Amino acid sequence: MREAIADTLRKDPLYPAYEASDVVLRTGATVRLRPLQPEDRDAVERLHARLPADSLYFRFHRFRGREGADRAAAVCDLDYEDRYAIGAESNGRLLGLAVYDRSAEHRDAADVVFVVEDAVQGKGLGTHMLERLAEISRNRGISVFTADVPAASPRVVEVFRDCGFVVEQRAEGDIVRVRVSIRATHAFEEKAADRSERAAAASMARLFSPRSVAIVGAARERGKIGAEILHNLVSADFTGPIYPVNPLASEIEGLRCYPSVGAITGDLDLALISVPQPLVDGVVDECVEKGVSAIVVITAGFGETGEEGRQREARLLEKIRRAGIRMVGPNCMGIVNTDPAVRLNATFAPAYPPAGRVALSSQSGALGLALLDYASKLNLGISTFVSVGNKADVSSNDLVQYWAADPRTDVILLYLESFGQPGLFGRIARRVTRRKPIVAVKAGRSRAGARAASSHTGALAETDKVVGALLRQAGVVRTETLEELFDVAALLANQPVPRGRRVAIVTNAGGPGILAADACEARGLELPPLRRETTEALRSFLPAAASVGNPVDMLAAAPPEHYARTLRAVFADPGVDSVLVIFIPPIATDTDAVARAIAEEAKRANGKCVLTIFMSAKGAPAVLHPVPSYAFPEPAAVALSLAVEYAEWRSAPEGGIPELHDLRTEHAREIVERSLARGGGWLGPEEAAELISDFGIAVIFARNAPVVTSLPEWPAPALTCPGLSEDRDWRYRSSRAIGLLRVRQVWSV
Ligand code: COA
Repeated sequence: MREAIADTLRKDPLYPAYEASDVVLRTGATVRLRPLQPEDRDAVERLHARLPADSLYFRFHRFRGREGADRAAAVCDLDYEDRYAIGAESNGRLLGLAVYDRSAEHRDAADVVFVVEDAVQGKGLGTHMLERLAEISRNRGISVFTADVPAASPRVVEVFRDCGFVVEQRAEGDIVRVRVSIRATHAFEEKAADRSERAAAASMARLFSPRSVAIVGAARERGKIGAEILHNLVSADFTGPIYPVNPLASEIEGLRCYPSVGAITGDLDLALISVPQPLVDGVVDECVEKGVSAIVVITAGFGETGEEGRQREARLLEKIRRAGIRMVGPNCMGIVNTDPAVRLNATFAPAYPPAGRVALSSQSGALGLALLDYASKLNLGISTFVSVGNKADVSSNDLVQYWAADPRTDVILLYLESFGQPGLFGRIARRVTRRKPIVAVKAGRSRAGARAASSHTGALAETDKVVGALLRQAGVVRTETLEELFDVAALLANQPVPRGRRVAIVTNAGGPGILAADACEARGLELPPLRRETTEALRSFLPAAASVGNPVDMLAAAPPEHYARTLRAVFADPGVDSVLVIFIPPIATDTDAVARAIAEEAKRANGKCVLTIFMSAKGAPAVLHPVPSYAFPEPAAVALSLAVEYAEWRSAPEGGIPELHDLRTEHAREIVERSLARGGGWLGPEEAAELISDFGIAVIFARNAPVVTSLPEWPAPALTCPGLSEDRDWRYRSSRAIGLLRVRQVWSV
């Protein structure tokens, strides 16, 4: 029986939550949570043996002597429906467990016991275990946890509260009877997201701000990857000790060289690994032994090469997770942190970007190299850069959470080829974009591109429409090209987010002014007439032939002073949200002086977003910085319209999680299973309508349209209903339901 249950658990495809998963603690260390199974009895007994005899847990639950050991170990006797235990494990050692026993009378309630070994208390492990247990219990139809806790141990009740649960408690002598509703409320989701963000930030901090670095495979000859990384570390002036590791050298770049990681005498936080693939495993073992916090595996030859490589990567991941090490890569180009207190250039890229407020992650290493170069050319300051490679451990999800809390980052840029966990990315990004913009370019739009993306880093390709919907729902600014990515980044990093769609154009040439107006309108921006006070102010100093409408054409000879006074007048106009300034260098005007005048006025722009177009082969002079500049009207209009769309997303009400009653989950599951069994990856129209209704969304009417191209599109007509579409809760519900359709569809591919 036990074996059968354990087997079912392993195979249960419907609840991935049952699988082992790794959580990051407040300290940044990773711990594995997994279901306890009959073979874990010994580990559970050992955990109990390590608990101090006077621990409240012992006293209270009377787990003493032989009887206690048996009772403790009985948590492993899963019976799937009525008892379930999860254990927390690090380096093969069980650190804690949490178990529920379903009540025989009230099937929606379960009694809960959890324990965390003393040495790891206070790091958030209890909260993680309860959170996971609650998730599993909810899927089993349990909505209430009960626990009797000693009155002398208020911390236990706090752990329930930390999870965001609603807790009722009643004192009875020296015990407190606790009753907890484990519904996933908004408070629960917020607390879980906060915890996850803090933990990701802590674990990424060990990667980005190491106190010491080793480069393993520091080749002697410049031009080889390991040698270039070492050279970059030294040239960027990393603020801690650098340890080159190479058994064949005693000194490289003037630094003492070590034959192995184990031979390094000082503490080691970060190891960069650039040895041939067959040697990586042994080097990682040495890193585990040495107690490093993070590794960056530059070496290729893992998941991107096929099944054997995938297995190698899985083994590598298993090893570092067990040791609580965070890993970037494999098959990556490295990481950069321009913080003057760190100055870490752990890449083999020739360019070290200027320090600034833009964070960048690239799934392609070579492209990352070009992006860093381009950022340097644009003078776009970078806070941190990560080439994520195969994303075996550290993914965009970890990075986005780290950057959300990073005081040195204002804008997050992502070059993506695939999503490891699209649902999680959506949830994380949706929260982060309320505070900081995320701008992403997702490769693999075309069929050929998608095929190429899946073979590049060995990742699965997603349908572009699904990706588009995912990014849109999360408030991520999606750009079509890399150029647009940088165009928007330059705007968002240097200017306030536009308050609205109203743009004023100020130009010294009519033609480009008209082109800019066309480009703005084509992107849904508005060019309102300027108010009377503004036009009168402009008339007072501009030549009579100048045009004071919108665009304001100051004429070709406009001197710097006209730029300054015109901008002052337009910045004072309350009907304007952004100002697009165009300059075409005529012979007589000093370009630098105009740029200086614009930059000076932009410092007092009344909260307006300012951008420029310098239509000159030389581009904009450096004195214009930080006002962004574009070579032509179209890219400027595109960047501005994307910034406006982001601003609208950010100011729209967030909505809440609606109370959903009478969900027919069993029926929904049947529909999905039937469709999966049929194959092909699509639901029929009636099935989709039924599925949506199962989740409480009334289908007002449904009609088959002659052109049905893809799943994300076709439910829309059935859902569109005048009046309803303004209701954000409803929209949220429908997006969740459609999200569910998509997720199942993606799984089925
Ligand atoms: N510990 C430390 N150093 C070791 C070592 C060990 N156990 N064993 C060997 N080395 C040294 C070598 O002696 C050599 O130094 P040397 O040139 O002074 O003799 C150095 O490590 C590198 O080894 P080498 O055999 O020359 O490898 P390589 O430089 O040709 O290739 C990689 C190593 C990692 C670059 C290569 O395997 C690889 O994966 N390349 C692709 C990387 C890539 O594209 N990444 C993705 C970017 S987007």
